[in-house]
Amino acid sequence: MNAPAGTVSQTIDKLIDAEQARFAETHPRSARAWAQGRRHFLYGGPSHWMRRWAGGFPVYVEEARGCHVRDIDGNDYVDFCLGDTGGMCGHASEAVTRAAIRQLERGTTHMMPTEDGLWVGEELTRRFGLPYWTLTTSATDANRGAIRIARMITGRDKVLVFSGCYHGGVEEAHVELRDGRMQMRNMIHPNGVDHARVSKVVEFNDAAALEAALAPRDVACVLMEPLMTNFGMIPAADGFHEAVREAARRTGTVLIIDETHTLSCGPGGYTRLHGLEPDVFVAGKAIAGGIPAGIFGVSEEIATRLWDKIPHLNPRRRQSAHFGIGGTLAGNALTVATMRAVLADVLTPANYEKMIGRADRLLAGARDIIASRGLPWHVTQIGARVEIMFSPTPPRNGADVIATRRGDLETLLRTFYMNEGILVTPFHTMLLMCPATEDADVDKHGAVFERFTDMVLKSGVA
Ligand SMILES: Cc1ncc(COP(=O)(O)O)c(C=O)c1O
Repeated sequence: MNAPAGTVSQTIDKLIDAEQARFAETHPRSARAWAQGRRHFLYGGPSHWMRRWAGGFPVYVEEARGCHVRDIDGNDYVDFCLGDTGGMCGHASEAVTRAAIRQLERGTTHMMPTEDGLWVGEELTRRFGLPYWTLTTSATDANRGAIRIARMITGRDKVLVFSGCYHGGVEEAHVELRDGRMQMRNMIHPNGVDHARVSKVVEFNDAAALEAALAPRDVACVLMEPLMTNFGMIPAADGFHEAVREAARRTGTVLIIDETHTLSCGPGGYTRLHGLEPDVFVAGKAIAGGIPAGIFGVSEEIATRLWDKIPHLNPRRRQSAHFGIGGTLAGNALTVATMRAVLADVLTPANYEKMIGRADRLLAGARDIIASRGLPWHVTQIGARVEIMFSPTPPRNGADVIATRRGDLETLLRTFYMNEGILVTPFHTMLLMCPATEDADVDKHGAVFERFTDMVLKSGVA
């Protein structure tokens, strides 16, 4: 018989407390560093993302290599978080390190192009299909640039996103559907933005709702991941992408596909794997091997509309106009050099094959454990990325995730992972492979996950 929900939640709380106490015992130096950091950093660490680790405080890193991290207390981890995808090339990857050192010795940023960029531009077009590219310092910035262009050429304000999405610091996207209404995305601070004016949100996989939202022709762009990765993993239903493409085209809406996470699918991302036709393609995080960078590419049509609409900004006709897009350090020599190394030597077809093979192995192992114990959980994979979710089937949209998500069990799993030497992103239960991830690393995950399932079954909280 199942235990009542209140009892389950109390038991899970107790288990999390016990895991956090175990974590504190084995991480005394990190605990002290955290206490010290809080004296000078607004969020305790240099970035607020660093404070959210499941152990209760972050581990301070001594060294990271390949898919392994050693902390200042001497604990070793298999890293499946990989900087929440920023480290997907593997830590201290030889090709990236060599390229970075070479460029550091030649100057990093001078607001002039280097010849590496010529190769990078050509390769981005070859891989992802879009003819014209811009580099930024982050995926957030790439999305912002893409939205800006969509607004310029359409003369419209609104950005349409899917409930449960995350596209970085893009405020327009910080909304979700709750109780049938657009509201601030849960867990995001108020941002002062008038969302009624600049945002629209519909459920993923709901082509009819999308049609209705685009019909008034007041939406500048649809901003979407091809498969949602930031609210569990939500696969696209058959025909959904075709419906989005068609509706956007018919209503003059720009379609931006954000592949920041779905680059895990393969060398050309989900777009190339499934033959999508974005007007704008966005990526970031791993694209320069951990050096801050984002990219966006636009179609021939978008470029033509841009220059027709704003001839005074066309650099081919006249110089020296402000675009208000990107940052001073965007596309600098260091970024371009490391991006070249990533595209030439790290995120190669051969390495993707290896990474996806490891992900297949991890998925099969986790599914076996779940099936052999009859647990109502599922595992999803997109290329090198795997996610374990505590519901029987993959969600169709954000509403399904809200209805079925077991946040407390996820927190318990993440805390348990940390104590057993596994790192996962503190706000996903996502496991990402890099080229250095080996079978032994994957098998360690299997053993730890098995112990976790035994613990929750014994405690009656599964
Ligand atoms: C799909 C997607 N796009 C964009 C971003 C923003 O990336 P960054 O924070 O590196 O700018 C994220 C971050 O998680 C993301 O998941």
